[in-house]
Amino acid sequence: MPGLIHAIGVTPWSPDSWRTRPADQQPDWPDQARLDRALKTLAGLPPLVFAGEARYLTDALAEAAAGRAFLLQAGDCAESFAEYSADSIRDKLKVILQMAVVLTYGSGVPVVKLGRIAGQFAKPRSAPTEWVGDVELPSFRGHMVNDDAPIASARVPDPERLIAAYHQSASTLNLLRAFTKGGFADLSQVHAWNQEFVASSGEGRRYEAVASEIDRALRFMRACGIDLDATANLHQVDFWTSHEALILGYEEALTRQDSLTGDWYDCSAHLLWIGERTRRLDGAHVEFLRGVGNPVAVKLGPTTTADEALGLCEALNPNRVPGRLTLVSRMGAGRVEELLPPLLRAVTGAGHPVLWVCDPMHGNTFSSADGHKTRRFGDVMAEIKGFFEAHAAEGTWPGGVHIELTGDDVTECLGGAEEVLEDHLALRYTTTCDPRLNARQSLDLAYQLAELLRA
Ligand code: PEP
Ligand code: CO
Repeated sequence: MPGLIHAIGVTPWSPDSWRTRPADQQPDWPDQARLDRALKTLAGLPPLVFAGEARYLTDALAEAAAGRAFLLQAGDCAESFAEYSADSIRDKLKVILQMAVVLTYGSGVPVVKLGRIAGQFAKPRSAPTEWVGDVELPSFRGHMVNDDAPIASARVPDPERLIAAYHQSASTLNLLRAFTKGGFADLSQVHAWNQEFVASSGEGRRYEAVASEIDRALRFMRACGIDLDATANLHQVDFWTSHEALILGYEEALTRQDSLTGDWYDCSAHLLWIGERTRRLDGAHVEFLRGVGNPVAVKLGPTTTADEALGLCEALNPNRVPGRLTLVSRMGAGRVEELLPPLLRAVTGAGHPVLWVCDPMHGNTFSSADGHKTRRFGDVMAEIKGFFEAHAAEGTWPGGVHIELTGDDVTECLGGAEEVLEDHLALRYTTTCDPRLNARQSLDLAYQLAELLRA
């Protein structure tokens, strides 16, 4: 995307031009020299993704923007240095593959699979401090910055964590590539993705039925003489990575010039997004992402005006490249049908080819009576339905969802077919940040979503 740099007639872009703009949500690193050393180390490490992969993802997202595919973006709110194992990565991948199968099989629409994974280690916070019991502490900002332990010393930003986040991202991505290209994601394995605690539930049994139908379809095709072994799409999946590009020093250090095209790519992930708290047009985050060739996304909360949405389109995708820009609305279940249509109208009217995605999580968070941050499954579904209604009314394509989930059997969000109640929250509440859907709730969501897509 060479024109990106010179478009809109603004100042030239470089990987560090964001430093001239106000950068919200950056940690107060206590020791500049240590930070500089960590960033220098990062700048010398290999890229995590290749520019050509980011271009493939742009093409896949362009299909979704045009109404021919659907984006499933999902993973942890915040990845953790502590809860890190091959099993947890595998189980997250399992639930995402299960959801994708349910969506594809149920709706006939191809699904683009994008993890909030292998880099999702930094959190924007609404306040610089938070209360844990009756102590006030500097806020936890993600394991890339500080630790969530409820003591003041753990909350001091430590630049060595940037390097640890890079290494954990590298090994997570390596395992994901091994699983998705090495046989684990083979369609003949659909039954193996159903974890025990899921299989015993109503959602799990329903999934088993779909998996058996897929088996039968594969046997049928083989019997017809189709060479399934030669059909790569049945044996491998493309699984992409994404995270919020929050800590700009880290992103800058991993930004490299592509030797094939000469363009700059942020090689920390395939897709980067700007959060609701850092999307100001004159801010450092917009400045940074406008110059990289990756596909990018922006979260749009309830205060977003049509002018702001248009401004973001002009700044981030002046050449109107399909697949380059995804807009992720997170309005809240009660407000999406009122707040989204004016944005759809403005952006569509201006001819911007964006992919519209629904984040039904971040506008529906509240605290339970005993102080757990939680969300109701019913609100999550209601926001998705409202999103579909808004698109139906405007004649635009509801192109995807953005979900916080885990493969573990947690009790963090309320409701679902096997209902999590308020007094269950404390049982298995392990997130370091926002509450996630468990694997059963995620599957339940996929079934209801497939029905919406079919309609
Ligand atoms: C997030 O995606 O975890 C997040 C903080 O979202 P938002 O920027 O929409 O609040
Ligand atoms: Co979150």
